[in-house]
Amino acid sequence: MFVQILGSAAGGGFPQWNCNCVNCAGLRDGSLNAKARTQSSIAISDDGVNWVLCNASPDIRAQLQSFAPMQPGRALRDTGISAIILMDSQIDHTTGLLSLREGCPHNVWCTDMVHEDLSTGFPLFTMLTHWNGGLNWNRIELDCSFIVPACPNLRFTPLPLRSAAPPYSPHRFDPHPGDNIGLIVEDVNTGGKLFYAPGLGKVDAPLLKIMAGSDCLLVDGTMWDDDEMQRRGVGTRTGREMGHLAQNGPGGMLEVLEQLPNQRKVLIHINNTNPILDEDSPERAELVRRDVEVAYDGMSIVL
Ligand code: MLT
Ligand code: MN
Ligand code: ZN
Repeated sequence: MFVQILGSAAGGGFPQWNCNCVNCAGLRDGSLNAKARTQSSIAISDDGVNWVLCNASPDIRAQLQSFAPMQPGRALRDTGISAIILMDSQIDHTTGLLSLREGCPHNVWCTDMVHEDLSTGFPLFTMLTHWNGGLNWNRIELDCSFIVPACPNLRFTPLPLRSAAPPYSPHRFDPHPGDNIGLIVEDVNTGGKLFYAPGLGKVDAPLLKIMAGSDCLLVDGTMWDDDEMQRRGVGTRTGREMGHLAQNGPGGMLEVLEQLPNQRKVLIHINNTNPILDEDSPERAELVRRDVEVAYDGMSIVL
């Protein structure tokens, strides 16, 4: 299985257009040793030609342009996007669908809760019907594996996760299973298994066991400290409030990952305030010591 990191940043990207925090300003003026990053999306394929797009970010156009295999050019109008799976209905994971309108209809897999948000608070499913039929919804049943016909060697298993529905959602403060999922993706030929969860607020014992069964963990790397937005003076919301488990501190993501010694560990969905973006920071050195990688745009993983 080929896993391509199209966008490794959280909502807003890095640098964020209106942000002058030390990271964003430092990247702009060249004083920070860091890479720019687009918003959260990956693509997965079993053959390198047909791709399953996991999340459609507002940066999708630039992401596709920077990854030639997703433009196979077999016909006058063509794309390597054979299916789209949504982890949640957050703006950074869904707005790209608007930019893909010229290629409708698209086959979209998502849960009932995500479909509801995208038919009410942010009605993409309704709006896009005006473009050649829009989006064909394929329901993700929780805890029930599914196959995407274009990539028959991949088996997808959704896992309801503790995170949060988007700020615009009618049930933002009334969480439901399926607001946010993680995925286990298994290549039935190679046996390779990926665990993907860009929004992960809590890891309990059963989930830890599932993670231990995967070869590679591509997990929520949004924030280093839960109160990082406050520390940097750019906001008041905590990681926890937004459904993201911070890396640092007791019970944080680093402690979780420490319990998984046999897996490749990669952080993704990095917020622009996170000190790990600075490749010379002590926090980044701590990740190196712990054998934890930081995803970057253009990174590829083969499993
Ligand atoms: C999140 O991951 O929590 C959201 O993308 C935040 C946002 O929409 O700004
Ligand atoms: Mn996000
Ligand atoms: Zn910033």
